[in-house]
Amino acid sequence: MTDDRTDDALVIFTPSGKRGRVARGTTVLAAARALGVDLDSVCGGRGICSKCQIAPGIGDFPKHGVHVAADALSPVNAVEARYDRIRGLAPGRRLGCQACINGDVVIDVPPESQLHKQVIRKSAAERVMAMAPATRAFYLELAEPDMHAPEGDFERLAAELEKQFDISGLQADLQVLSGLQAVLRKGGFKVTVAVNQAGRGAAPRLVALWPGLREAPLYGLAIDLGSTTIAGHLVDLTDGRVLASSGLMNPQIRFGEDLMSRVSYAMMNPGGAAEMTGAVRAALAELAAALVAEAQVDAGGVVEAVVVCNPVMHHLALGIDPVELGQAPFALATGAALDLPAREIGMAALAPDARGYILPLIAGHVGADAAAVALSEAPEAREDLSLIVDVGTNAEIILGNNQRVMACSSPTGPAFEGAQISSGQRAAPGAIERIEIDPVTKEPRFRIIGNPHWSDDPAFGAPRVTGICGSGIIEAVAEMRMAGILDAAGLIGSAEQVGSPRLIATGRTHEYLIHDGGADGPRITVTQGDIRAIQLAKSALYAGARLLMDEMNVDRVDRVVLAGAFGAHISPKHALVLGMIPDVPLAAVVSAGNAAGTGARMALCSVEARRAIEAQVRRITKVETAIEPRFQEHFVAANAIPHATDPFPELARILTLPEVTFNAGPEGGGRRRRRG
Ligand code: FES
Repeated sequence: MTDDRTDDALVIFTPSGKRGRVARGTTVLAAARALGVDLDSVCGGRGICSKCQIAPGIGDFPKHGVHVAADALSPVNAVEARYDRIRGLAPGRRLGCQACINGDVVIDVPPESQLHKQVIRKSAAERVMAMAPATRAFYLELAEPDMHAPEGDFERLAAELEKQFDISGLQADLQVLSGLQAVLRKGGFKVTVAVNQAGRGAAPRLVALWPGLREAPLYGLAIDLGSTTIAGHLVDLTDGRVLASSGLMNPQIRFGEDLMSRVSYAMMNPGGAAEMTGAVRAALAELAAALVAEAQVDAGGVVEAVVVCNPVMHHLALGIDPVELGQAPFALATGAALDLPAREIGMAALAPDARGYILPLIAGHVGADAAAVALSEAPEAREDLSLIVDVGTNAEIILGNNQRVMACSSPTGPAFEGAQISSGQRAAPGAIERIEIDPVTKEPRFRIIGNPHWSDDPAFGAPRVTGICGSGIIEAVAEMRMAGILDAAGLIGSAEQVGSPRLIATGRTHEYLIHDGGADGPRITVTQGDIRAIQLAKSALYAGARLLMDEMNVDRVDRVVLAGAFGAHISPKHALVLGMIPDVPLAAVVSAGNAAGTGARMALCSVEARRAIEAQVRRITKVETAIEPRFQEHFVAANAIPHATDPFPELARILTLPEVTFNAGPEGGGRRRRRG
């Protein structure tokens, strides 16, 4: 197969551009393999899987310096004609395993026939998802057992896989072996096998098998196991499409709202950790079943599950007591990426040996979910400096560029999710999610989830307003500051100071009335206690970011990426007014949506993505906020809104905050002073 053999035919593959000479009569599939072209095949060239479809070009190709005659490929043969009759071949398409090369030819490999295809995502900023799944299907035809050939069925299957597909050293566990003989005989020794090749050096594993040719694709689950919610996608491993998405509450909530209270539960209750392990594994099984039902696929075709989670959830799902994560030095049992049977973490009703892959943890407080965000956002591939913030009960913060990447986590608490807020609630229909306050009249108008109209629009109607969600409380506090209802120290003014009856005295402090509740709804207010809770949360977030900036020796970042489902709903302007994030131009604050979920899908679809994040996690510098004295200094300075000492010049470019100061008085009054 060299360019010297002029009796050979020149073959040029597009879009790869790979070219070479092959002996006339070579099949297109064999030529592709010889030239390292990515052309799929499940049936090993038997003309039954149709994965090898190609489109030959006929005519002049000046760019390639070649003329392709109409008979450059062999005529359509009986196998192709039969396939076309039964299943239909698109015009111009041929089966690469049947068409033989008789002359110089240009052959296009369409995206669906490429094994390592690039799938453009419509969402998540038109992301390119690379497909290189760890588990692939292969169709095999085995010789029937013979008294004179004493090898076992599995050994003969493994030998055929090696012969046909060059995959040697196949292994299988009892779950698969116990069903092997029945499947082989049911299919007349024709069988489709799912083989997992987790990575370099890892032995290939037989994950599942089906009698005859399995037409349906293989599926995988991408699961974001959060401390509050567990969300998952069922993905077609052929092209990365999401076929179903579902979520449920983490049942561990009954053991404690936040992670540390769950660690305490494990410490104080004998068997507590095991109880929580049982709860989360049951939830994972329930979620897997829900996804399979929603997508209407067979559970046995689900061959992989990728899980991303924080370190405490990671240990609990694996059945490891998380007690060490509750105290310095926050030692992980293991931070390495794990490849294990999915049934070991609760997902038993999938393919017999469905694999589970858990992304590596970054540090004792920075989990596989942050690693998934790092995989999805890839700050190391950019020249500019990105600050990536995944806001939840704990904020996970990544700062980096192509020189260096660092990560930490910061204990923001649940205030940003609407918890510990007097009128707070989780994001659900009826919750206030947007709010504006008129700086002159101090009158609010708002929008609730499930209603596209503002509250001052007659079309808003009279819905029941149930509370205020995380993004709503951030906007409310920032709007109060912008309207002069709240001073830089975070004190709410009185009715007299502000000049509005919406300010109501409650003991020594005041609250701002957003909605009086109407006929049957709750009164919705922002209290001084709510402001304090938000100040604590945002100070923790900002201090974490500043700590990383100190370590990086920079005073500013080029862009801020808000990740997480919540991050997708935060208004950048309000986040800046509040001083949640360092000062950057408004346009430099971007939302990455559910970046952890995207990272989980990337790892599900590609072993190369797994290797990339495993290597990247080893390079990330971990910063521990809990033991760093400067964290406390940054935290205190960040208590002011937006900040006591750091200038916010970019914010000043778009608005001027009122310079008001309120003093809490003994009877809820106090004086109002104007500064400057
Ligand atoms: S390789 Fe299966 S039909 Fe061609």
